[in-house]
Amino acid sequence: MEAGRRFLGDGDPGRLLPRLGEEIAEIPAFVSIDKSPLPAGYGGGCGGGAEDFLVGQGLFYVNERRRLLLDCTSGHYQVLWGYGHRDLTAALVAAQEAGVVWDNHSNIPQAPVKRLAERLVTLGNAPGEADPLDTVLLGVCTGSVACAAALKIQLKVFARAHGTEATPVLVALRGNYHGTDMVAQGLRGLWPGLLRRCEVVVLEPNDAEALDAVFRERGSRIAGFWAEPVMMNREAVALEPGYLARAEAWCRETGALLCLDEIQTGFWLPEMFEYRRLGLRPDLVVLGKGLTAGFHPLSGLLLRRRHDVLEQYDAISTNGSAALPALVALASIEMIEGQAARIRDSGVRIQAGLRSLVSEFPGVLLAAEGRGHLAGLKFRSVAGALEFHRRLLEAGLWTRVHAYHEGHSTLLTKLGLLADAVVIDGVMDRMREVLRRGSPCRPSASQGTP
Ligand SMILES: Cc1ncc(COP(=O)(O)O)c(C=O)c1O
Repeated sequence: MEAGRRFLGDGDPGRLLPRLGEEIAEIPAFVSIDKSPLPAGYGGGCGGGAEDFLVGQGLFYVNERRRLLLDCTSGHYQVLWGYGHRDLTAALVAAQEAGVVWDNHSNIPQAPVKRLAERLVTLGNAPGEADPLDTVLLGVCTGSVACAAALKIQLKVFARAHGTEATPVLVALRGNYHGTDMVAQGLRGLWPGLLRRCEVVVLEPNDAEALDAVFRERGSRIAGFWAEPVMMNREAVALEPGYLARAEAWCRETGALLCLDEIQTGFWLPEMFEYRRLGLRPDLVVLGKGLTAGFHPLSGLLLRRRHDVLEQYDAISTNGSAALPALVALASIEMIEGQAARIRDSGVRIQAGLRSLVSEFPGVLLAAEGRGHLAGLKFRSVAGALEFHRRLLEAGLWTRVHAYHEGHSTLLTKLGLLADAVVIDGVMDRMREVLRRGSPCRPSASQGTP
């Protein structure tokens, strides 16, 4: 690892981009660590993992086979500023030396947790907002717990208005992913029959007519509406601003609580949240992933005080009152603000680059998807998407592909905020080269949600 780290240096793209995909001879051979004790869903139960991550710096990493790769997906979509960012690491070390702790009891939160809560409330509202999101549940480690808290709030608020015998309706979008809590999984069709007391209605994203129909029909029986502004778990489908505004209007009219899951979108844009950029006013906003830039996870839920209906142990991670991660989050937010113009330009450049590929290869590609850094390249065929993914890996680009559900054929990227014009153009050039070389043959293994 040390040799790998020395090779990666400060992750300079100028030096590393030309060597992508190479086996790096400067790093001594590494005996791959057996991962058979891990569950099959994690690639365990079958021996070694030569493709596994050995060491990373900035946007790059070296795998156990010593191959150099560019991580085009920011880890599992959370490593906002790449691996081991120097300034964030320095802030972490300095804070630890000054007495900031990794974690403590949530009844006695240390200063960074409270400062982060203040900051999120400020960022979460337009200046002068009359009915602000003024409360933040920050004691949750993972996004799944934050999503579960939002669901519980929707159900409890509904039960207070309609009684505990009424059947609440939850409306969500096809291809949603709101974590691994059972009720949240019920929104994507898991546990059939087990969640009998909730009626789940699943709509196609951006289908305004279906949205109108369900709200007209179910009205005040709807407890909550769920949406991810960009569906990174469904081919990077971007929800249209007008569609989200319509959902918001229906929620206001019927009393349903609008929950926007910004776990993927949050902190990847200068406005911090998509809903702020789009001028929306949700009731609940779920945060996670990029919040702490891929350091120790920390998630949260923004809400209004009148919806603060849960008891402390109704939705909590006992290791979620995490002061050092909160401090990293504050430092990262400062960096986003300081580099806002460049971040915005990079998002535009990524989308323009993908659109250009689509126009150059119309026989293979169907559309550029997503918004800003959250990006997808929709292929005409599943085999084409899978093969492209495999060839990019050979060329040293780690990406993801959604091709495991009927009709899905999209390559996904979420470049870290360090990606500048050189990196973005370098990625596009490599993609162009692979597309030019042509026709798909052997598909790679599919990759499961999310
Ligand atoms: C949109 C969305 N919601 C919720 C989650 C769950 O977050 P976590 O994996 O931190 O529990 C994820 C994770 O990928 C996500 O993408």
